[in-house]
Formats: sequence, C-alpha cells, structure tokens
Amino acid sequence: MAALLLLKQPCRPAARTWTTRTRNDTALQPVTSITYLRTGRSAAGAVKLEEGGTDDEWLAYLEPAKLEVFDQLEPWAEANVVPLLKPAEVAWQPSDLLPDPASLGADGFHAACCDIRARAACLPDAHLVCLVGNMVTEEALPSYQSMANRFEAVHDLTGSSGTAWARWTRGWSAEENRHGDVLNRYLFLSGRVDMPQVERTIHNLINSGMVLKAARSPYHGFIYVAFQERATSISHGNMARRAKEHGDLALARICGAIAADEKRHELAYTRIVGKLFEVDPDGAVRALAYMMRRRIVMPASLMNDGRDGDLFAHYGAVAQQAGIYTASDYRSILEHLIKQWGVEELAAAGLSDEGRRARDYVCALPQKIRMLEEKAHQRSAQKAQPIKSASFSWIFDRPVRITMA
Ligand SMILES: [Fe+2]
Ligand SMILES: [Fe+2]
Repeated sequence: MAALLLLKQPCRPAARTWTTRTRNDTALQPVTSITYLRTGRSAAGAVKLEEGGTDDEWLAYLEPAKLEVFDQLEPWAEANVVPLLKPAEVAWQPSDLLPDPASLGADGFHAACCDIRARAACLPDAHLVCLVGNMVTEEALPSYQSMANRFEAVHDLTGSSGTAWARWTRGWSAEENRHGDVLNRYLFLSGRVDMPQVERTIHNLINSGMVLKAARSPYHGFIYVAFQERATSISHGNMARRAKEHGDLALARICGAIAADEKRHELAYTRIVGKLFEVDPDGAVRALAYMMRRRIVMPASLMNDGRDGDLFAHYGAVAQQAGIYTASDYRSILEHLIKQWGVEELAAAGLSDEGRRARDYVCALPQKIRMLEEKAHQRSAQKAQPIKSASFSWIFDRPVRITMA
C-alpha cells in the first residue's frame, strides 16, 4: 500500500469522533464527539457526518443480509485469496536487498555502504522526495491494518482469528511491513535525507490516521484497496525505472520487489471485488460509483512534517512532475478496473435504477477525466506556466520544482 495525489486536494476532517459499534448494533455510541460539542448536532448525526458525509447510502451495506455475503464467500476466499500470500520462508526480506553487516564483516559492510551512498548521490531531488513520500506512506501500516479490521464481517475479531479473511489481512500486513522497513533502511544508509524530519513525518502520519469514505463497509473498503494496490504498484514500478536510469541498481531492485508485491495484492483485492460483482452486481456497482464520486483519496493524505502545511499536495505535485504517479495513472487505474470487473457488460436487467445510473456514471468517468487532462494540457501549451517550487524538510529544505493543478 502507498501512493499519493489525486486530482484535487482531499478535505481534512474537521474533527474526530470515536465510536463503539458491534455488528448487531443499530445505535452508534460516540465516546467523544468534538463535532457534537461544537455544533449541537445529535450524536448519531455527528457520527454519520464523521463517517460518511451527509448521506446514508453506504450504511445500507452494514445490514446483516449484505454482510452475510462475506460469510458465504469465506470458503471461496480460502481457496482463491489466501494462497496469494507468500510465507515468510519464501518471501524476500529487507536484509536480502541491503548489505548484511554480519556476513560482510566490518570492512565489507563499510564498502557496501559507501557504494549505496555513491549511487544514491546521483538521484535527483525530485525522485528522492517521491521515494521519501512512498516510504512514509508505507510506514503508516498500522493505520492500514486498522482500516482493514474496520471492514465489517471480514475483520479479525480476536487478533488471531482463523478465518480466511482475518488470516489474509494479517498476512497482507506482514508483507506490507517489509516495504516501509526496506525503504527506511535504504534511505538511512543513503545519507541523502534528513532522517529526523522523515521520522517525525511518519510519527505524525500514524498519529493522524487516514481518510476513508464508507470506512466500515467491506464492499467500499475492498474497492478502495484494489485501487490503492494498483496505484502503489505503478508508483514503486516507476520509481524502480527511474532508479535504474540513474544507475542506482540497489534501489531499482528494492522498488521492483515492492512493486511486485503490490501487484500480487492488487490481484487479491481485484479478485475479491470481482466476486462481489458476480454475486451482487447491483451492490458492487453502486459501491464503486460511491467511491469514485468522492474520489479515491490516497492513504497518506494527512502527512505532516510540522513545517509544510501543504506537504501532501506538494509531494503529489512532485510525483506528477517526475512521472512517478500522475493524474493519467488515476484514470488508467479506473479504466483497468472497469474492464476487470466487467462493469460495461453488466446487464441492465440485473440492476436497480440506481445501479444502472451507477454503472453509466462509472463507465463515463474515464472519458470525463481524459477531457480534463486534455484541457489542462492545452492550457499549459497555450500559456507559459509560472515555475513554482516547494521546499522539502526531508531533503534539508532544498526546493524542488512542482506542477500544481
Ligand atoms: Fe506496500
Ligand atoms: Fe500492497
């Protein structure tokens, strides 16, 4: 999991509300509600506002009849999703991709570290910023495992549950854990970044959490993660290519290994959502439209280094400029998923009126995004854009050129 930007800046939540709720609860019980205190809204209203805006659409996905789908699909998940995990014995580990002080000895380790520093010295600042942003995103894994355990019906009820869904989430988290680890160690050894500032950003991000619409619905959640895994695969894959172009083969291997993991994760989540399209096409397409209408906001949107109030936007702008992750990627991911899930082929007869509207909206969206891209391209071709830059504390406040939408 990782990645960045999107078409517009995400909204930061105005306030936080902590709630307790069990699967059979009908009443949400706020523990603390700043929203409620400030506005005088009812407690349930405050929770709704916090969790999903002003609409109730996604809450219907928490009805028992809807959630039973996941109980019924558990044997399918056991056979089709869990096997996509790689056991620790065969999975790569960060130590496989970085110098090992124990086997190299003091001199050998020193020489290997010097080699890393020399190669990393060739990386442009823009790529370094993208790499740090990707690493910071990966390091906020506690938020993502918590996210997956908020999805009703598939969460890990005990922390060591034996269900296929819970074992998948733990195995996925274990694989993800290596991504932040290996990038963090590489950047530490590279000597090119301000590690205390990077570490503060990670600390702040985990502290802030993440933004996810319809946070407890497994339909919406799995759609989000499927999109997200493909986005991270693209981002790390592009980073691997850039690293290779600049002669940093160690970094290219690291990013390539992460990208391959993300691809496998994408396959798992795409498969799960594909199954939902098979067993409940109307529910699945409406959930997809819901998520796309609100845009897929990337998980590190709340990143904060304590200095730059627009850090995430600036990081996204550098990624766009450097071709690591762009608005075109956002569109191409959507096009890919529409194809994977056969959205265009969904028969009208199997859909409600709202389902048909959702299908038509989703299928028309890539073209709309493409037109916006073309307009933006034409505007920049007709009129010279002012050169802007942003300073990043991660690289000792050096400025990096950016393109802001
Ligand atoms: Fe990851
Ligand atoms: Fe992943």
